[in-house]
This record gives sequence, C-alpha cells and structure tokens, in this order.
Amino acid sequence: MILTVCLNIAIDTTYTVPGLVPGSSHRVATVGARAGGKGVNVARVLTSLGQDVVLTGLAGGSTGAQVAADLAGLTGLAGLTAELVPIAGESRRTMAVVHGAEVTVFNEAGPLVTAEEWRAFLESYAGLVAAAGVVVLSGSVPPGIPASAYAELTGTAHTAGAAVIIDAEGELLHEALAQGPEIAKPNANEVATLLGRPARTTDDATEAAELLVKHGAKTAIVSQGAEGFVAVTPGKSYAVRPGRLVHGNPTGAGDALAAALADGLTKGQDWPELLRNAAAVAAAAVAAPLAGDFDARLAAELRNTIQVEEV
Ligand SMILES: Nc1ncnc2c1ncn2[C@@H]1O[C@H](COP(=O)(O)OP(=O)(O)OP(=O)(O)O)[C@@H](O)[C@H]1O
Ligand SMILES: [Mg+2]
Repeated sequence: MILTVCLNIAIDTTYTVPGLVPGSSHRVATVGARAGGKGVNVARVLTSLGQDVVLTGLAGGSTGAQVAADLAGLTGLAGLTAELVPIAGESRRTMAVVHGAEVTVFNEAGPLVTAEEWRAFLESYAGLVAAAGVVVLSGSVPPGIPASAYAELTGTAHTAGAAVIIDAEGELLHEALAQGPEIAKPNANEVATLLGRPARTTDDATEAAELLVKHGAKTAIVSQGAEGFVAVTPGKSYAVRPGRLVHGNPTGAGDALAAALADGLTKGQDWPELLRNAAAVAAAAVAAPLAGDFDARLAAELRNTIQVEEV
C-alpha cells in the first residue's frame, strides 16, 4: 500500500470564462469542483497506475465533508481509501479561472489546526504507516502545523520501514532532509532558497539536487517543467528530457511525477527505467485538463521518446 499525505486538502473549483477583465463582471461558461490538494492529485494518479492507495489528511467543515464525499466514490475511484482526520476549522477551497490558454489561480491558506488536532493526526498516521511500503508527503500545510511536520512524518515512516518521497519547499522540506527521505522532489523555483537562486539551467538543477543530497536526501530530483528533470541518485546522476513537448495544463505534472516515482519504488525498478516511466507519466499528465488525471495510453506512447542521459 502507498500512503499519500495531504494536510491542506481542498475543493478545487474551476471556472471557464471567455476572457478575464479585473474590476468587471463575468459570465461563467463552465463550473467544475472536485477534491484537490497536491496529495489528492498524487493519490488519483497512483490509483490510475493500479496501486492500492490510502490517502490521509485533515478535513473540516462543509468543504471537508464535500472532499470526503467526493473521495468516497460519488465520482468513483476504485483502489483509493480516504482516512481523513476531522478538524473543527473549515477546509479550504481553491479557485482556478481558465481564460483562453491562461489560468488565474487563487489559493486559500487553509484552516487553523490546533495542537490537539495535529496530535490526533500523528496518532492516526502512525497506525496507517505501519501498512505502507511508500509514503508520499506533498505540498503546503495549513496554519498551526509546525515546520517540522514532514521531518516528523518521515521519521515515523522510517521507524515503520516505509520509504518516503517528499515534494515540498522551504522549512518543511529543509527540516525533513535531515531525516534522510528516499526521494526529495522540489521544482526549479522551490530550490531557490537552498541554491540562492532559482535553478534555470541543467547545471543549476544538478547543483541544487547535489545540495539536497548533501543535506540528507538519498536521491534528489529537481524538476524543470517542460525541460524535464535532473536526478542525483546514490550511484549516478541523470538528466531526463521529454523527447516530445506536450501542450496542456502543467499544473499537477509534478504531482504525477511524485506518484510515478512512488510507483517505480514499489516495483523495484532500476533508476533509468524508473525515471523514464516517471517522465512519461508526468508528460501525459500535462495533456489531461485536470490535475490528478493522466492518459495512460499517451504515457505508454511517450515512454520511448524520453531521453535519460547520465551526467
Ligand atoms: N510540457 C511538458 N511536456 C512534457 N513533459 C513535461 C511538460 N511539463 C512538465 N513535464 C514533466 O513533468 C515534470 C514535472 O513538472 P514541473 O517541474 O512543472 O512540476 P511542478 O512545478 O512540481 O508541478 P506541480 O507542483 O504543479 O505539480 C517535469 O520534470 C517534466 O518531466
Ligand atoms: Mg510541484
């Protein structure tokens, strides 16, 4: 079983409008709403990859109930079990306004979580992680959750014998590195504080990945959007490039990448194969309009076009 953690769960709302003019009224052409947050996207992709997935996180208020109902199968996802810990605060909503080829996004910070609620989560997590082979820790956390959260969750996972993939930034990521996560996967902007600048080139991304390893990650992957990613593994370093550029919605490509990395870890694939498969799934996620979805047929088609080069 793969355990995915989404501490800042949301209802992702998507409005489509012909054009966006600040300060004016808009007629909304289409409305979409479904459970979201990075950990939810990861869980969706893993479920599509055929994995047995448990999604955990914090959920509160009517938005939390809507998330739970969505995940329980109102829109149907076989293979996914949600184990959400209740909180008194109201879970957040995000709003994406799609206008032409552009998307404008509004992300709420999320509800205030009390120390008691966080302790209840840690207790529940310790029980769930006992049955997990891999844990994926993704995204931001709501107010009230300490910066040491992912470090603590990584330590508990390791005690239980589970591997950890962390896709986060800032203090959440930096504190967790000391616990030696199996894979750290920030994107090129998210390594800016570590590197002193965003990673713009392959050399920058490699330097950032090496720094992540120096701080404790066993493998570090720095993703660079349409350029692909750099991976520094315990043996070798690789530059992975999509052979074919995919047009679409890049939001959630990193979540798909994290999910596919977890999938590869459970299958014991060697690094070149694992990285190739992961890049194909991430690229196929760009072609799908909604974050958390990907076209498996396209992923299979793209696999052979991915370039995996030792650096
Ligand atoms: N246009 C594209 N065509 C092909 N592959 C892509 C494209 N965009 C992204 N990818 C693949 O997806 C991976 C992850 O993308 P990216 O670096 O944008 O992640 P991210 O910023 O963490 O995204 P998010 O946090 O929204 O999920 C890239 O390393 C690359 O392999
Ligand atoms: Mg990301």
